[in-house]
Amino acid sequence: MTDLDALQRDALAAVAAAEDLDDLERVRVTFTGKRSELAAAQKGMGSLDADERRRRGQALNAFRQAFTSAFDERHEQLSDAALRARLEAERLDLTLPPRRVPPGRPHLLTQVEHEILDVFIGMGYRVAEGPEAESGTYNFDMLNIEPNHPARQEMDTIYVDGFDDVVLRTHTSPVQARVMTAEEPPIAVVCPGRTYRADAVDATHSPVFSQVEGLVIAEDVTMADLRGTLLAFARSLFGADRQIRLRPSFFPFTEPSAEVDVSFEGSAGNHGWLEILGAGMVDPNVLAACGVDGDRFRGFAFGIGIERVAMLRHGVHDIRELFDADARFLARF
Ligand code: PHE
Repeated sequence: MTDLDALQRDALAAVAAAEDLDDLERVRVTFTGKRSELAAAQKGMGSLDADERRRRGQALNAFRQAFTSAFDERHEQLSDAALRARLEAERLDLTLPPRRVPPGRPHLLTQVEHEILDVFIGMGYRVAEGPEAESGTYNFDMLNIEPNHPARQEMDTIYVDGFDDVVLRTHTSPVQARVMTAEEPPIAVVCPGRTYRADAVDATHSPVFSQVEGLVIAEDVTMADLRGTLLAFARSLFGADRQIRLRPSFFPFTEPSAEVDVSFEGSAGNHGWLEILGAGMVDPNVLAACGVDGDRFRGFAFGIGIERVAMLRHGVHDIRELFDADARFLARF
């Protein structure tokens, strides 16, 4: 017959030695499972007489109780340890500073372009756009710039190879021709975009630059409306105390034409005028070429250089800084 005292000693020692819950489960199966010595001892009970069976039964119960209580205690210890190990392993250090991702922002030129557009949108203008690779017809012919007009050379046009009559637009004025051709007056649009000229790069020139074109076509539009509009624009962008001045100039597509300056007061008490844009009353030839009834309608137009406005407003002295993608420069705006 199985020596239950020895069995109990071995079983309790095995429970105490179990290192984790899996181990403990194996101990349980070994000592109390279907193929265990305990099960065999239970089966052997049938052959005993009544007295012996009772004593044997009490001894088996005592073994089972001793085993169960040792098992439960060890089970609780090992569960606690497993939980603690898991909490330790999955610990998150919430005090660790996050990796710093510097916030992005629009480029200075984009900021200035949006500011310019906002001023005119506030006055009721719509934004219109056109292609950068433009036909010579829109870039020149419809704007009263004939094939042998010196302006074609002056503007240092970049022609697109392999195409007849396709240029990189030298200004945003072809967009006004496109709008006039497609829409009925009254018209009030601003047309932002990139423009191209075969200029050598220096502190004030870049072969790629950007303009905002403005166009108003309506009955009874006068040069006074143009002046009032540009004064409101200059004051919104540069300050409420500014003045503007119109100097006579020439553009093939406007008559009369003006160069527009904005006043400045330097901190050292110096003051003067800075040129910010070109403007004028739309030439009757342009109205006719674009299908606008020049007897009924008149218009004004202006062209603003975005780089120039950005440089004047923010004290940038070299246009190349606007295109260099130097993060230290760009972070200033
Ligand atoms: N298109 C002219 C330029 O690029 C600017 C301009 C636009 C002048 C509209 C008058 C009217 O220089």
